[in-house]
Amino acid sequence: MESDKALEYIRDLVSYDNPILSFLDEEAKSRDDIQPFIEPELAKMLGLLIRLTNAQTVLELGSGVAYSTIWLGEALKATGGRLTTMDNHERTSKEAKENLSKAGVDSFVDFRFGDVEELVPRAVSHHEQYDLIFQDCGKYVYDIVYEDIYDLLNPGGLLVTDDTLLQFDPTIRKGLGVHVDRYNQRLFIDDRYYSTMLPIGQGVALSIKKA
Ligand SMILES: C[S@@+](CC[C@H](N)C(=O)[O-])C[C@H]1O[C@@H](n2cnc3c(N)ncnc32)[C@H](O)[C@@H]1O
Repeated sequence: MESDKALEYIRDLVSYDNPILSFLDEEAKSRDDIQPFIEPELAKMLGLLIRLTNAQTVLELGSGVAYSTIWLGEALKATGGRLTTMDNHERTSKEAKENLSKAGVDSFVDFRFGDVEELVPRAVSHHEQYDLIFQDCGKYVYDIVYEDIYDLLNPGGLLVTDDTLLQFDPTIRKGLGVHVDRYNQRLFIDDRYYSTMLPIGQGVALSIKKA
């Protein structure tokens, strides 16, 4: 199977859950001032997992301009749930809030501006609990908030971690790959989770917190 052609084929089939998503994807092609979005096939899988588990509370680390946030928001519209998302980039966070409003999902999205390293421990101290957590912020942060993320997940909850195969991308700074590899080694020997990894996009780890 030619993987590039297969991917093109999948992307032709996958439809966007909100019109603003196709606009943002198109616009991103001519922008070099924003970080990459999640791939549509991963976005759709997140939407599917939220619907499948009837997730009511979702936490996202790393909103960017809210591309992934809108996909998550559309899924939560279907389950009647709520989303909390966190990012520390001032300019893109403003864009994110505008995009959430344009997409019509802002009424059930709690956008928290600041460093994940500070906001996540605060959420733990407030005894917050989530059915699904999606991590897509700075790769060095995964290891720092590891235990707090475990505490924030409900038993049986799902942890989805993006970019877990970054170390195999020759164009990526080596240090990023080292962070990701260290995180993967920790996650996959942690028997409090049941985990696997899929080669979607730059790799995605899926872990259930055992009840
Ligand atoms: C890859 S982008 C997120 C893309 C987004 N999930 C999407 O698919 O549309 C990573 C985001 O994480 C944010 N970020 C990185 N390190 C962070 C930290 N320590 N605290 C909060 N946000 C952080 C960046 O500002 C950036 O917007």
